[in-house]
Parts: sequence; structure tokens; C-alpha cells
Amino acid sequence: MNDEAAGADRPAPWWVRGIVYQIYPRSFQDTNGDGVGDLAGIIRRLPYLQWLGIDAIWISPFYPSPMADFGYDVADYCDVDPIFGTLADFDRLVAAAHEAGIRIILDFVPNHTSNQHPWFLESRSSRDNPKRDWYVWKDPRPDDGVPNNWISNFGGSAWTFDAATGQYYYHAFLKEQPDLNWRNPAVRAAMHDALRFWLDRGVDGFRVDVIWHLIKDGEFRDNPVNPGYEMGRAEIERLLQVYSCDQPEIHQVIAELRAVLDAYDGDRVLIGEIYLPLERLVAYYGENLEGAHLPFNFQLLQAAWDARHIRALIAEYEAALPDGGWPNWVLGNHDRPRIAGRLGPAQAKIAAMLLLTLRGTPTLYYGDEIGMEPVPVTGADIRDPWELNEPDLGLGRDPSRTPMQWDRSPGAGFTEAKPWLPLARDWQDRNVEVAMNDPDSLLSLYRRLIALRREEEALSVGAYLELAAEGDILAYQRTYGDHVLVVVLNLGHHAMPFDLPPGLAGEVIAATHGARDGARLTGRVEVAPDEGFVLRTAPH
Ligand code: NOJ
Repeated sequence: MNDEAAGADRPAPWWVRGIVYQIYPRSFQDTNGDGVGDLAGIIRRLPYLQWLGIDAIWISPFYPSPMADFGYDVADYCDVDPIFGTLADFDRLVAAAHEAGIRIILDFVPNHTSNQHPWFLESRSSRDNPKRDWYVWKDPRPDDGVPNNWISNFGGSAWTFDAATGQYYYHAFLKEQPDLNWRNPAVRAAMHDALRFWLDRGVDGFRVDVIWHLIKDGEFRDNPVNPGYEMGRAEIERLLQVYSCDQPEIHQVIAELRAVLDAYDGDRVLIGEIYLPLERLVAYYGENLEGAHLPFNFQLLQAAWDARHIRALIAEYEAALPDGGWPNWVLGNHDRPRIAGRLGPAQAKIAAMLLLTLRGTPTLYYGDEIGMEPVPVTGADIRDPWELNEPDLGLGRDPSRTPMQWDRSPGAGFTEAKPWLPLARDWQDRNVEVAMNDPDSLLSLYRRLIALRREEEALSVGAYLELAAEGDILAYQRTYGDHVLVVVLNLGHHAMPFDLPPGLAGEVIAATHGARDGARLTGRVEVAPDEGFVLRTAPH
């Protein structure tokens, strides 16, 4: 979709050109000295975000929660947990962010509540409570008890027996996170009200947690065994998730969520968290684009770092998109290993250039812009319930959630107390303050690329055309009208030659290697190890 495709009389919505920055609020900035980040901390750091140039922040959950899954277990959809502040702080954040030209995207967690949510307390109180059917309750099966073979995403059975009422309840995640029954219209209405509560307070959209999970098979059939399961993998992978998620009725549920947003002005955005193969993922745009605006595209999170492979996955994604569906790309989040750890510091720059020059809304994860690496978290420091449930398989998410490294001070500028997760060992060298003052830092490159994406329509809304995937070189063109940019990335650690298309000459306008900046290039170019650059060809 470009401006024309969006309708001649209507400019593209902000989230088409926009860049999203994810904040894990526990780890961004502490202002009250408890070692945990808070909303006032986000306000304090708005000038940094403005300097960086991003358009929107998506904030992981800050609702009242017992924190069994660090806020993804919500006990009240319409308030702020005291550890993060108050509703008044939230209103201040919205006002200050909007003043700074930054939109606010909330994390909406509709699949499950906390087991401490008043709805669940009522639901479990008796079989004939009016809220009984707000959750998923089933009788024991005569043989082994559990209603079916479904496994929790965090390991163990997805069913917990409630002795008081003699039934099991279903939880796709922790037993402290009972699943809501989205087939019940009263649940839908209550959740729509929760969305409106925040929309009325001025939020610009939602990232919807595990949106493909909301509807389960009507008959709760057993999931088939995964013949490809390998020992040492997460237990959930023992089964193919055929019946526990991604059911056809989900699309109607999403269309209803979308309608709630569409009743408001200002292009409120609906982003869906969906881990599914490409052909299933794109169904979440909706048959007539009435679904999620941006079903998260997580392909880069685990892609083999190989030019041909990445060329192919871009091509497959572009080909699978429905007409008018706008693409998006994600490089990191609070559930996955950090990119700089996976690729190393030199390739982290190439990854930044890739993310910010592809066609589609980019989402970046706090700290990745300074190259934060996974921080080993062991023993008594472990906080992630998944790691505690299924230890030593490398599933733990704490290493990706450690405090933001702002400066050299003892708490890295994050806190004056003991941080809730340990700081990276390298915080005195790798932090925002140091990186801001180094023109060759990853952070400086991020800032340059973000500015460039804003200046160049070819990057934000232009067409994508692949040029080459030879050896370690991945090259493509982005074009808008007569503006043509060429992106050349060396995904490897060896110098490689690259032939620019015949007759094409241009000037380097962004580069991983400072010496290349401003160079005029044509014909054969020797691309240095780990080098990437963006070339502007003269309009013709
Ligand atoms: C996906 C979230 O990103 C993750 O952090 C959380 O544990 C699960 N959903 C359960 O809400």
C-alpha cells in the first residue's frame, strides 16, 4: 500500500510511516527508588525517545497484577499497578508523549486474566455463578481426569483442577492465568469496554497479546502429537497446536475489536501478536482487511542470518500479503533472545539497517539500539516463571529484560536501588550516554536511519525490489516516484564484491562504516566485512 493505494483523498495512517519502540516498563526507568521502572520514568525519558526519532511507544502491561507473569496476568483492565504509578501518571504520560509527537500503544491482554481478577474469583466461587461461563471450565474425563491433552505454553498440563467445584479450568499459560471464554458475548462486551476506557484516555492503539489464542476448538479435541518434537525443546512443542488456537471463529472476534477502535478518530492501530506460519499469519489482516492492521511479522526473530534465506523470506512475505495489507518487521521483543547476542555487535548494525530500510512498519525493542546483549541471569536472580517451570533449556526470558543502560552511574541511570534484574556487566561501556557521543556507535546509526526513513518516502512507503542475494550480500532497491534508493548489506565477515545495476550511480547517505559516508559509487563496489550502506541515486 502506498498513499495512492490508501485512497487518493486520504493520506496513509500514521502507523504506515511510523516506527514503533517497545518499552518493557519494569526495566526502562525507575523514579521512585524501588528497583523497578515506572510510568514517571517513561515520562522522564521522552526527550531521549524524541531525540531517537521514533513515532510510537508500545508499553508492556502496567495494569494491577500479582506479577506471576510480570503483568501479563491482569487483575484489573482499567487501572495502573501501584508499582508503576497511578492513572494520573498515565494521563500525564499521554499528554507529555503527545506533546512530544509520540503516540502511545498499550498492551492488551485479552486471552486470560489473573486468577486474582474479581471475574475469576466469582467464576470459581460456584458452578452456578453468573460468571462461571466467563472462563473455560470442563468436567474431569473418566480415565485420567484432565479434559484433554493440551499443554501449557509454560510447561505441564493446561488444566488445573478446582476441588471446591469439581471441575478443571483451562490456562494456555500459567495456572495463575486462567483463559477467558471468548465465545461468551458478555466477555466480549466487558473487554470492549476495557478498550474504550483507554481509547477515551487518548491511547493510539493496542498490541494484542496472543491474539490467535482467543478462540479454542468448540469440542476441545486432543491436539495431535508433533512427530518432529526433539528432546530439550519446550514441552508445548510435543503437540501440534491444531485445536487450542488459530480457529476460524477468531477472525470475527478480531473484527469486533477492530470495530471498537474504528469508532474513534485518529487512526487507532490494532497490532496482533501472532506466532504462526506465514500463510496462517496473513489471514489475520482479515478477508477484507477488517482484522488487525499489523499482524506482527516475527520472521526476523529467528531467521538464519543468510542472505539467500532472508531474501526468500522477504519475497515470501511480500507475496503472501493481501491486497492493501501493510507489512511490518520486528527485530526483538521481551520474549526472545536479543539480536546483538545472536549476531554479534558488527552484524547488529546490519540488522538495524535491514529493519529500517525494509518495506513495512518497523518495531524495535528497548536497548537493542545500544546493542544490549543477553544478560546471564542465574540462581536466585531468576524471575521468569517459564525458566522456573522448565529450567535449563535456554527458554528463560530474563536475559532480554534487564534494565536499560543509560549512563555510567552505579545503577546505570536506571535506578538508585538494587534493580529487579541484574545489570549487564558491560553497562559502563555500553550505555546511551557513551553511545550518543560516538558517531560510529550503533545508536548513532539507528538515529541516522530513523531520520532517513522519515526523510525518504522511498523508505517509508516506497516499493521494494530485490536486487541480489549472492554470497553474503543482500541488496535491494526502494523506490517512490523517481526516487530510487539502493540498500547493500554484507551479512558476513568477509569482504565481497557487489556490482551495482548497470548505469546506476549514487551517493552513500547512510553507512555502517563512517569512511563510506558521502562516497559516490558506481559499477563494482568492494563491500567490507560486516558493511552496509544506503545509496541515493540521482532522480532521473
Ligand atoms: C505473550 C507475552 O509477550 C508474554 O510475555 C506472555 O508471557 C504471554 N503472552 C502470556 O501472556
